[in-house]
Amino acid sequence: MSDKKIESILNENRVFPPSDAFVAAARLKPADAEALYAEAAADYEGFWARLAREEIAWATPFTEVLDASNAPNYRWFADGRLNVSYNCLDMNLAERAGKTAIIFEGEGGDQRTLTYRELTDEVARFANALKAHGVATGDRVVIYMPMVPEAVIAMQACARIGAIHSVVFGGFSANSLRDRIIDAGAKMLITADGGHRGGRVVALKAAADEALAAGCETIETVIVLKRADCGAAMQDGRDVWWSDAVAGQSTTCDPVPVDAEHPLFLLYTSGSTGKPKGIQHSSAGYLLAAKLTSQWTFDLHDDDVFWCTADVGWVTGHSYVAYGPLAAGATVVMYEGAPTVPDGGRFWSICERHGVTIFYTAPTAIRALMKFGDDVPAQYDLSSLRLLGSVGEPINPEAWIWYHEVIGHGRCPIVDTWWQTETGSIMITPLPGVTPTKPGSCTKALPGIDVDIVDEAGNPVGSPEEGGYIVIKRPWPSMLRTIWGDNDRYIETYWQKFDNRYYMAGDSAHRDADGYIWMMGRIDDVLNVSGHRLGTMEVESALVAHDSVVEAAVVGFPHDIKGEGIFAYVVLRGERPTGDAAESLTATLRDWVGKQVGAIAKPDEIRFADNLPKTRSGKIMRRLLRVIARGEEITQDTSTLENEAILDQLRGKA
Ligand code: PRX
Repeated sequence: MSDKKIESILNENRVFPPSDAFVAAARLKPADAEALYAEAAADYEGFWARLAREEIAWATPFTEVLDASNAPNYRWFADGRLNVSYNCLDMNLAERAGKTAIIFEGEGGDQRTLTYRELTDEVARFANALKAHGVATGDRVVIYMPMVPEAVIAMQACARIGAIHSVVFGGFSANSLRDRIIDAGAKMLITADGGHRGGRVVALKAAADEALAAGCETIETVIVLKRADCGAAMQDGRDVWWSDAVAGQSTTCDPVPVDAEHPLFLLYTSGSTGKPKGIQHSSAGYLLAAKLTSQWTFDLHDDDVFWCTADVGWVTGHSYVAYGPLAAGATVVMYEGAPTVPDGGRFWSICERHGVTIFYTAPTAIRALMKFGDDVPAQYDLSSLRLLGSVGEPINPEAWIWYHEVIGHGRCPIVDTWWQTETGSIMITPLPGVTPTKPGSCTKALPGIDVDIVDEAGNPVGSPEEGGYIVIKRPWPSMLRTIWGDNDRYIETYWQKFDNRYYMAGDSAHRDADGYIWMMGRIDDVLNVSGHRLGTMEVESALVAHDSVVEAAVVGFPHDIKGEGIFAYVVLRGERPTGDAAESLTATLRDWVGKQVGAIAKPDEIRFADNLPKTRSGKIMRRLLRVIARGEEITQDTSTLENEAILDQLRGKA
């Protein structure tokens, strides 16, 4: 987007105000929202300080609010001390000990519920087990688990003793797990024999063993939950079954107060280079915003049943499964498996059987489930639903309308929430009892979040329809603090572009005449595949790591269900294969990338070519590759190509 202004192409005019009934019962009504915006505008720090005092139970109250002396390494509430697990669990015991905290359903249909009392006890027992195995405040613990309550128990147990967790999504490969363990310098790995996904068993411990065999010297102990009964090779002296680790442990474990800025977790995410970034989040600022946004955006009431379908391997599963809703005393649903097992009605069946009132998922899932037709959701009683949410990528108006009509029966507001691993919590979203929604727009920033759209020079874009960079102009409590072990990269990636003044999110957007924000996608080489971020370089590095590959270029293309698909152009060491040979090598390379990074990174299409189109200065002409991947006409100048015939190869026509 460097020299060209982005123009928006979406033209969606429908407006959906919340119903009077919804507004009447809402936690935040228009006047409340107005008061919050006014308060934040009048005294930004005072606004956050008040909320931090009201919403967090402090072991030592803070006196400093925002410390900008080392910007952009901001600190919030820095002289305060607290414990996050205490805030999420113990704080609910007085009034909600017997309230259900977690309703769990396995893919095979097994069910379990945990009250706040039971969850607190399990967290304490596991925290004691962590201590017994030498984990102390500040140690890193990697969690590589299926979507089961023990994943949340493990996260909360780390928080209880001030250990820093880093959850690695169970769909990532052994190599990805190894890289993250090494980068985090983790002392312990918590995993399971396996989990259930898509009708199969995902053998997590086997992948973990492969990772550990490839040099993760810092790992001293591996705790293994028996989940799938698929067997696990246990290494003497290193591996311990979860059940043995907690046997005999007390259900009392005093929460360890930590500094407000103590890292609660690291979560690795893709950037435009090959190496994932360990996004570091704080304790107090993160907790505050995770809790508040759970209440504000999802209008949580005490009798709600909240289901965020995200896996705990992603930030959404941190903020809106493991932390935010628990801090708010809510009942959360966790589901282990795929949305299509045993059929495309599984999500709706879970909503019906557990009386889900608030449902939060990703556009990719909505599109996938739409394909099954309207008859499928029509078989279920979805009358308990009162609010729907979307996250991870722009939701196309067609999916929005389907979600609104077929799932929400026109009754439920939809909150399209824009945020990132780095922002820690929702930044731009409708307030369900306040904001009239427009399909495809995430509407406006939350109170206390200073969002703008700026041009190359950092000036606000002029006309309403003009696109630009999404920036956040003031630090906010749940912002990332740094990239683990690489503060220079933190500054370079997010701050340098606008002279350390604004946080640059890496997304482009425009505002309409009503001030509504419309996201327009990434500005860097980051793909959004099924709502998950993948760097093109990550996939390219994986491809060139294969013996037969000399060079690779990866671009995204629009994909019906995934939002964005992965298109890889590959130059091989020897002859360019055609026909069956090309097909078989395509399959091999897809599996290879799956093994290197994880199944989500497998290219949807691979094209073999004798070389890649480059500019005179040797840069790959990515724009041209994108045009070809989309099957569009080539309108740009290709006369600089050494070998024009290569275009036919890239198009798959030779
Ligand atoms: O491009 C934006 C897109 O997802 C990116 C963040 O990805 P990740 O850190 O994996 O977190 C996903 C869940 C918070 C953003 O930079 N994105 C996320 N939500 C939306 C979105 N794009 C448009 N609309 C959204 N609601």
